[in-house]
Amino acid sequence: MADSSGKDAALFATHSKITAAERACQNGHPGCVVWLTGLSAAGKSTLAVELERELFRAGRQVFVLDGDNLRHGLCSDLGFSPAAREENIRRVAEVAKLFAEAGIICITAFISPYRAGRDLARRITPPGQFLEVYLSTPLAACEYRDPKGLYARARAGKIPDFTGISAPYEAPLNPEIELRTDQLAIGDCVARILARINALHTPA
Ligand code: ADX
Repeated sequence: MADSSGKDAALFATHSKITAAERACQNGHPGCVVWLTGLSAAGKSTLAVELERELFRAGRQVFVLDGDNLRHGLCSDLGFSPAAREENIRRVAEVAKLFAEAGIICITAFISPYRAGRDLARRITPPGQFLEVYLSTPLAACEYRDPKGLYARARAGKIPDFTGISAPYEAPLNPEIELRTDQLAIGDCVARILARINALHTPA
């Protein structure tokens, strides 16, 4: 974003002497961002930790950024208004990008309800290293699961701006992967994502 204070003109980037290809060679795989998006209770966190475990077992460098966790720390000052969610996802996108640049497979598990935020995350990640995974589990199934009792509270008017009830969710238009977690076994979901990760190109 342009900065009228002149701050940008006084900032100078430091460039690493380690290339993305060198990092990929040392790790045995390139860094990337696996961006899970979908309604609350669609299974993002469950899938993220299962995928992380499989990748870790296979000797990969991998880490999960999870919505509920980051909202206790980096994003603890943010609520659920559209502007707060936008800032939440902007921060997550920047952190995920850094993980990918560090050569790590970064799995993110956030509702990330707005296309603009997800598109920003894709744009700033190194080209070809971003996989958008849409958990398209319908609202009715998520609400039926309701593991944290949040949908019931939202329906009772006790949680404002609740995604799917009183706040929007903009479905991805061209996700790399779409998963109905109410119809697929978790192992199948993990396998589909693993196949795409394994097909990513190592940076030149
Ligand atoms: S996001 O919209 O900004 O991407 P994020 O993934 O960080 O959301 O956090 C979602 C989690 O916060 C949900 O899984 C749920 O546990 C909790 N939560 C609390 N209030 C809300 C709300 N109004 N809408 C959605 N999730 C909420």
